[in-house]
Amino acid sequence: MTSGTLNTPYFTKVSGTGSYLPEKILTNADLEKMVDTNDAWISERTGIKERRLAAPEQVTTDLAYIAATRALEAAKLTAQDLDMIIFATATADQPMPSAACVLQRKLGARQVMAFDLAAACSGFIYAASVADQFIRSGMYKHVLVIGAEILNRVVNYKDRETCILFGDGAGAAVFSRAEANEPSRILSTHLRADGNLGDLFVLAAGGSAMPISQAVVDSNAQYVKMKGREIFKNAVRTMSQVCQEALDANGIAMDQVDWLVPHQANLRIIDAVGSHFGIDPSKVIVNVQRTGNTSAATVPIALDEAIRDGRIQRGQNVILTAFGAGLTSGSLIMRY
Ligand code: ACO
Repeated sequence: MTSGTLNTPYFTKVSGTGSYLPEKILTNADLEKMVDTNDAWISERTGIKERRLAAPEQVTTDLAYIAATRALEAAKLTAQDLDMIIFATATADQPMPSAACVLQRKLGARQVMAFDLAAACSGFIYAASVADQFIRSGMYKHVLVIGAEILNRVVNYKDRETCILFGDGAGAAVFSRAEANEPSRILSTHLRADGNLGDLFVLAAGGSAMPISQAVVDSNAQYVKMKGREIFKNAVRTMSQVCQEALDANGIAMDQVDWLVPHQANLRIIDAVGSHFGIDPSKVIVNVQRTGNTSAATVPIALDEAIRDGRIQRGQNVILTAFGAGLTSGSLIMRY
């Protein structure tokens, strides 16, 4: 799917980004005391050294509120300026009302369209693509897109295969209509899903198939379960494919791309995608060592950090890419 083919006079740019990581740090040494694992194994297999955990009293929209406030400030806008809010998450505060509506109230935004989007770790890129369509159609000027998660509430800290991977955090971006003469714009977005691979990463309980009950809780079905090796292979394959689609759609070669901002699931997955394209590792934004996998939040957090520390500059070509449960995948290519 390519938004670049839409024939309208409007374009979309990132007008501001923000992010938030909770204070509490969970190190590999801490995990050694909780499950049968060790720092050497985690570091070598994943690159992760530590991750952040939300405090017990924090909910996902609290993290999102801070990230969103920072993004609005960077965009020099207020919540009143927003025309739509899209919240990508797999760990909303509760099933209803949506995290987007809770956040709308916390921000004091106008009574504009607000909804959650479920595409797991690809959620931010899916949501950014939706924002792009509404802005390019001429309907809206400013859209807030959030990726935020508290994964520590759905991870079993007795399961060493999953608990070492995940962390909590929030990232946000305000997407705005670009002026006709502005170089900054989203060039295209490319989204995929393959439901046939849905059983590779599952959180089974809490929906209509398996409502929460004591028996369900006793079976640990309220926690995420995954087939790590299969996910690894498909992650490299799908992110490489959607990045290639982005390049082809715009007639751009990877050596004309200034920054690749990939989903931060595992350093070896990031390295494999980078070497597939022969991209210089210094052009790949990586923070997974400090954050772990924060699902829908990884891409906007990494993007925000690289914009704030001055690596990503206006006018540069940037590709965002992610894969997630579903299996979903996506890429977004922009001139920042
Ligand atoms: N500490 C020590 N040993 C471990 C641990 C651990 N935490 N976890 C597994 N092992 C053991 C396994 O039991 C296995 O032992 P065995 O050989 O005696 O059977 C051995 O280590 C190797 O296990 P593998 O699963 O083959 O290890 P692999 O190299 O594939 O790495 C990993 C595992 C890190 C999970 C990797 O497959 C991966 O990162 N996959 C992608 C996971 C992912 O991204 N998940 C989220 C995707 S969806 C989303 O982002 C929401």
